[in-house]
Amino acid sequence: MAPSMWSNFPRALALVASLACFNTAQGSDEALWPLQTYKSSSIKTPYMNVTKMGQTEPGYLFFAPQDILRGTGHPSIYSDDGQLVWQGANGNQSALQPQMLDGEPVIAYWEGYNGEGFGFGHISILNSSYDEIHRVTLDCKEQSFVTIFDPMTFSSCIDIHESQITENGTILVTAVNVTQADLSSVGGPKHGWIQDGIIYEIDIKTNEILFRWSAYEHVDEVPMTYDIAPFGASGAGTGTNKTDPWGYPHLNSIAKYEEHYLVSSRYMCSIFWIASDGSIDWHLHGRTGGDFNLTLDTSFCYQHDVRIEAQSADSVTLGLHNNDNTEFTGSSSFTTGMVIELELQGSKKVTLKRRMWDAGDPVFAQSQGSYQGLGNDHVLQDHGAVPKIEEYDENGATVMRAWFGYSDSMMQTYRAYRYPWTGRPSTKPDVVACPSGENTAVYVSWNGATDVDSWKVYSGSQVKKTAQRSGFETTILVSGLSKGEDVTVEAVGGDGDGTRSASARVGVNC
Ligand SMILES: *[C@@H]1O[C@H](CO)[C@@H](O)[C@H](O)[C@H]1NC(C)=O
Ligand SMILES: *[C@@H]1O[C@H](CO)[C@@H](O)[C@H](O)[C@H]1NC(C)=O
Ligand SMILES: *[C@@H]1O[C@H](CO)[C@@H](O)[C@H](O)[C@H]1NC(C)=O
Ligand SMILES: *[C@@H]1O[C@H](CO)[C@@H](O)[C@H](O)[C@H]1NC(C)=O
Ligand SMILES: *[C@@H]1O[C@H](CO)[C@@H](O)[C@H](O)[C@H]1NC(C)=O
Ligand SMILES: *[C@@H]1O[C@H](CO)[C@@H](O)[C@H](O)[C@H]1NC(C)=O
Ligand SMILES: *[C@@H]1O[C@H](CO)[C@@H](O)[C@H](O)[C@H]1NC(C)=O
Repeated sequence: MAPSMWSNFPRALALVASLACFNTAQGSDEALWPLQTYKSSSIKTPYMNVTKMGQTEPGYLFFAPQDILRGTGHPSIYSDDGQLVWQGANGNQSALQPQMLDGEPVIAYWEGYNGEGFGFGHISILNSSYDEIHRVTLDCKEQSFVTIFDPMTFSSCIDIHESQITENGTILVTAVNVTQADLSSVGGPKHGWIQDGIIYEIDIKTNEILFRWSAYEHVDEVPMTYDIAPFGASGAGTGTNKTDPWGYPHLNSIAKYEEHYLVSSRYMCSIFWIASDGSIDWHLHGRTGGDFNLTLDTSFCYQHDVRIEAQSADSVTLGLHNNDNTEFTGSSSFTTGMVIELELQGSKKVTLKRRMWDAGDPVFAQSQGSYQGLGNDHVLQDHGAVPKIEEYDENGATVMRAWFGYSDSMMQTYRAYRYPWTGRPSTKPDVVACPSGENTAVYVSWNGATDVDSWKVYSGSQVKKTAQRSGFETTILVSGLSKGEDVTVEAVGGDGDGTRSASARVGVNC
């Protein structure tokens, strides 16, 4: 199968079931990226192959690998040495972002039903104990959402693309509503259908909608001619009927700065600065410039994760993931991180400040991705459809390259971020003790714990051994234990210091 068939993540997800069957029928698992398994836990997670060429910034890697062939997905945290730190429940996830809410670190992610490049679901917000403390929803019925999946219905209509929490306890999300539109200005049907893109600001605690802006309701300011996605392109639809709406405008990131919303449209290759009354104060088009003067080296398209890096009265500096690489533009441009400065007055010049990519192993991804500015002018970039995370230093040199799947788009994560984190799992450590020659191998893990120094193995009240923690699961060889004896293990150091596992009988569950 041609790789281009698999360039669209949700489209590929929709084929999970049939592919899984195909693989079983063939009895072949050659295309499957290997999973790490453990003795003390039923968790399975993609191996992560990390190469470091320099010093990385502190923090863990947060992402949600979606395993297309196996039909699984998990919100996850890894450490820089490629070890799993935490894995959440199986599901379809997207837009996972560690952030602050009311001064506390949280993890927010979308979960639900996705297909055709957009989806319908809710945002889960977990605290550092990995408990869901908020579930943000957008009532499909109340808002009269029209979807492409009739007769299927959904309770919440938040789209897959954004989960940005503001300083005021609100969250910014996208939504897609199918609606009729005249597409003749772009050579489409007069009675056509579109995937209208809507942004919402929602109060996290009450689910109250505080702001709503629809692109189509502002079609005079956001004309269809900005859109470059050909009819029928992967994810864009033909626009001829309600189940195949055209991709106008495919919004994929929102951030709020005081009273303005910074919004990225993938199919329009555009960035909009939208005022709280819904009017557009400026528009940057990555092909034509829009309100600005682009140069060849500042051109971009199909971009993701646009954020402000610096701002003054006269200029604004943006960081973004430039994914200007589509099947209809030849699939020949590699993906880069870009920092561009926009002059808001005068000549309206756009200047390239930085461009980052892994020159030793460039990525030609066709969808998804993220860009994160870190401390010391480092940048973390994720490549979406290509399961690779990179970090660059202040000079643009690659300091980390991490693969967690093959480059065939069968393992993906929409975004990935680095963030400091202390995990405080509300569960207990998991233990299995198995005879191993003359000794007993005690396997211990604690899903989500970040700061255990060592593990103490007890038989009754007697400490049999203390061993340094090593990765997600630590294996401790203990002598003098007999089959049928009960052991417990206690965490030493960190937030969970003194927490004991349930007891495990030697030889059981091995
Ligand atoms: C995930 O999305 C796919 C469609 O792409 C759907 O078949 C599946 O039921 C979804 N899973 C969940 C848990 O919603
Ligand atoms: C991981 O990296 C090592 C070292 O570069 C390489 O030998 C190995 O094949 C890689 N594993 C996978 C599954 O690609
Ligand atoms: C996380 O939320 C749960 C449920 O509300 C609560 O019991 C737990 O204490 C919280 N953890 C932290 C670290 O706040
Ligand atoms: C979705 O589109 C329908 C049909 O045009 C409209 O009645 C409904 O209000 C729209 N819903 C939203 C959330 O924009
Ligand atoms: C909608 O249009 C697409 C593309 O032309 C076509 O494949 C599909 O069968 C149509 N669906 C319906 C319900 O008419
Ligand atoms: C947060 O609220 C303050 C006070 O109302 C306001 O000045 C600020 O602009 C708000 N920030 C955002 C991102 O909405
Ligand atoms: C672009 O730059 C040219 C030359 O500096 C200038 O004449 C023109 O007005 C600028 N365009 C905009 C949109 O500012």
